[in-house]
Amino acid sequence: MDPMKILGLLPRGLARFLEDITGRVPALRKRLEGEYERLLEGMEEALKPYRDAPSFTRLPEEGLKPEEILSLMETLNAREEWRWKEGYASGAVYHGADEHIDFISKVYSLNSQSNPLHADLWPSTIKYEAEIVAMTAHMLGAEEAQKMDPTAHICGTVTSGGTESILMAMKAYRDWAREKKGITNPEMVLPETAHPAFEKAAHYFGYKIVRIPVDKDFRADVKAARRAITRNTVVLVGSAPSFPHGIIDPIPELSRIAFEHGIGFHTDACLGGFILPWAEKLGYKITPFDFRLPGVTSISADTHKYGYAAKGTSVILYRNPELRRYQYFVASDWPGGLYASPSIAGSRPGALIAICWAVMLKMGEKGYLEATKRILETARKIREGIESIPGLKVLGDPLWIIAFASDEFDIYRVMEKMAEKGWSLNGLQNPPAVHIAVTLRHTMPGVAERFIEDLKGAVEEVKAKPSEKGRIAPIYGMAASLPFRGMVKELLKRYLDLLYSV
Ligand SMILES: Cc1ncc(COP(=O)(O)O)c(C=O)c1O
Repeated sequence: MDPMKILGLLPRGLARFLEDITGRVPALRKRLEGEYERLLEGMEEALKPYRDAPSFTRLPEEGLKPEEILSLMETLNAREEWRWKEGYASGAVYHGADEHIDFISKVYSLNSQSNPLHADLWPSTIKYEAEIVAMTAHMLGAEEAQKMDPTAHICGTVTSGGTESILMAMKAYRDWAREKKGITNPEMVLPETAHPAFEKAAHYFGYKIVRIPVDKDFRADVKAARRAITRNTVVLVGSAPSFPHGIIDPIPELSRIAFEHGIGFHTDACLGGFILPWAEKLGYKITPFDFRLPGVTSISADTHKYGYAAKGTSVILYRNPELRRYQYFVASDWPGGLYASPSIAGSRPGALIAICWAVMLKMGEKGYLEATKRILETARKIREGIESIPGLKVLGDPLWIIAFASDEFDIYRVMEKMAEKGWSLNGLQNPPAVHIAVTLRHTMPGVAERFIEDLKGAVEEVKAKPSEKGRIAPIYGMAASLPFRGMVKELLKRYLDLLYSV
């Protein structure tokens, strides 16, 4: 058996200890360094393709002409836009039609100077933000929630993206529990498939994370959730759906547990917030996930994904304004004046809020319904295509984020072969798998068919050369199998360093 795998069977604490002492042995350290260098060299080529383009490492003495700058950007853009435009990307660009982009650009130019920190100067942006929140709340069951429970008053704010929405909710729960329950060592309970934004929140806000496993269908284990709750638990989390496998957790059961314990329940609907309500209306059987469940106390829903707004907005909603107040930051003694800010950023790009509002009005209920129908039908075609390829299996029972794996060959090699054909898919781990998040780009004629044809070809190529190693596959393979997670983290930090090299 591979010694790395044996180490993987050790208790986590012991593996970490061994990793620590191994890292201090100079010979091993040197070997590791060599390994990092080799892996990063492989990445550099893909990440830095513009070594041939003009490079600026200090300000030009005299400003360049706008036409010159635009022409340079057009050249770079032309080299990369075909991939997302022609539907080669998983997720990433969710709408992307030319007329939609033109509309967004017009709205941007009308609002480019706006900053809602200056509410007196741009009351229009304040109006847009309040209405984005109200429209999203309505879509996610606000009215029904209030009918069932008159104390419910769904409210929220716009943030810069899914991560900030999640950060804000976790900050609100921490501060709420500290004030109302005297909890100073807060814990969050979350399925292992929940997005790393929760881990980031735990890191920033001093939470202990308690992970619960998922079952064979990739749904959070309800019994484990119940067992995981302690006196310090402040919030329980479920995804609708999860990023890796596109599966909706058993939110009714999980939120009931939270309700019984008087703790918060956050539905992460960053991916599903703008799809699931419409899927339900289209007659799909959707696990309930929104404020119609009395235990759900907050929801994150990303307007910059399936809401089709420009990148840089999301909505965080709360069951009542009392909870939202724990998100706010105010400073009353600053010589610069009285300061009130709803979220992490101080100044905020009002233009992105304006775009979000304008796109929601442009889409309307009918637009979202039609977009969802197209996405779900295309995803079904893609899922059936994957299932028809011998050696591949779809994980769980997903709707539009389709994860697939293989018991016969290295799935990361398949992902790499797909990358050679232009596809940008997402590599998953635990277990090794790949997914495609279907967007409107894939609903264009011929794209789903091309995906299946290319996937068939990729699988055949991998089967024909089972011992071929490839370039990306070993990196994923190593990251997925290494018991020493510290080494993987070190590699990821070096990857970030590499992004900043010029
Ligand atoms: C389920 C889920 N939650 C949260 C996020 C984080 O969103 P963002 O990348 O906008 O910060 C994502 C992103 O893909 C997601 O899929």
